[in-house]
Amino acid sequence: MPSFTVYKGSKDGSIVKSKTTKPDLQDDQVLIQITASGLCGTDEHYRTSDMALGHEGAGIVEQLGPSVKYLKKGDRVGWGYEHDSCGHCEWCLSGKETYCPDRAFYGVADLDQGSFASHAVWKESFLFQIPDSMTDAEAAPLMCGGATVFNALRMYDIQPTDHVGVIGVGGLGHLAIQFAAKMGCDVIVFSGSDSKKEEALKLGAKEFVAVKGQKELNISRPINALLVTTSAQPDASVNADWPLMIPAMAPDSTIFPLAVSGGDFSIPYQPMIQKGIRIQGTVVAPRNVHRHMLEFASLHKIKPILMEFPMSEEGITEAMETLKRGRMRYRGVLIPGKA
Ligand SMILES: NC(=O)c1ccc[n+]([C@@H]2O[C@H](COP(=O)([O-])OP(=O)(O)OC[C@H]3O[C@@H](n4cnc5c(N)ncnc54)[C@H](OP(=O)(O)O)[C@@H]3O)[C@@H](O)[C@H]2O)c1
Ligand SMILES: [Zn+2]
Ligand SMILES: [Zn+2]
Repeated sequence: MPSFTVYKGSKDGSIVKSKTTKPDLQDDQVLIQITASGLCGTDEHYRTSDMALGHEGAGIVEQLGPSVKYLKKGDRVGWGYEHDSCGHCEWCLSGKETYCPDRAFYGVADLDQGSFASHAVWKESFLFQIPDSMTDAEAAPLMCGGATVFNALRMYDIQPTDHVGVIGVGGLGHLAIQFAAKMGCDVIVFSGSDSKKEEALKLGAKEFVAVKGQKELNISRPINALLVTTSAQPDASVNADWPLMIPAMAPDSTIFPLAVSGGDFSIPYQPMIQKGIRIQGTVVAPRNVHRHMLEFASLHKIKPILMEFPMSEEGITEAMETLKRGRMRYRGVLIPGKA
């Protein structure tokens, strides 16, 4: 029976080291020794829940269940937000298992294990082989952050001729800039201040706007697709808000609100109608798109910019504080055994 260390959230927000024991491996289950885990903005939402945290995992296959078919001991694999789905509903059959009514998602299912841990047990069919061109630490943030932004661009047919906007240069945002630029799109970035300008341009953005306090945008051309990768809904006190952004949208354009947030979504109504603007919700990526994301990242050398922290109660706490204070550049990665 595999038994391993996990790090959990708790009522007062402190990180608690705990132990999880699983039954002997069954069917296509795989035991993975974790070598790196990304820290995603969504983990912050579960910090006060009594559950194992982390959903951007990378590691090495240590043990195989009796019906594992493709993976071998020693293979490098990653996993993300979804751990299982029913396999026979309309959404599973059409390659959109992220919308399966019986999906097993982080925060809802399998609360006894996550990627802030020494090991985890997952189904082979929800694991992804890590390309040789990337380290485990580089691959981990792609498992949720990379998959989410790639999915928005890929699933909704963004064209290389499109002007793609990204609001918020964090873990998701700095990957969105790279993916969209490498897809051939013109990328414009909206960030609270000028502090991330140089890096955003290096990552492939053509234009950068420090939006806090601006009353009107003066940009090169209207935006066809806008990825909202802020940690909360756009807010003028931090960066952009909708009355500022909507006039910058092109007719027949799409807004992808990716931020996880409570409350309602509210934007100026008439301009949305008059310009035919679509609001497209989206979550992570189904497995086929996730695989393409890894291939694309490998081919085009897309890599997250990382800050490493030890995989320990102190290391996770420090990483989460760094993210909360807006000091992460640009994705925190927890590494077991790091001093
Ligand atoms: N839909 C999905 O499937 C999915 C998947 C993964 C993550 N998410 C969500 O996506 C969002 C971004 O995640 P992340 O890991 O990239 O977070 P992150 O690294 O914290 O980046 C968020 C960025 O938002 C801006 N920001 C900071 N505080 C803000 C505030 N109070 N209000 C508005 N903007 C603020 C900052 O950018 P600037 O400094 O450039 O302004 C910051 O770098 C989170 O809400 C996360 O939960 C959704
Ligand atoms: Zn995430
Ligand atoms: Zn299903």
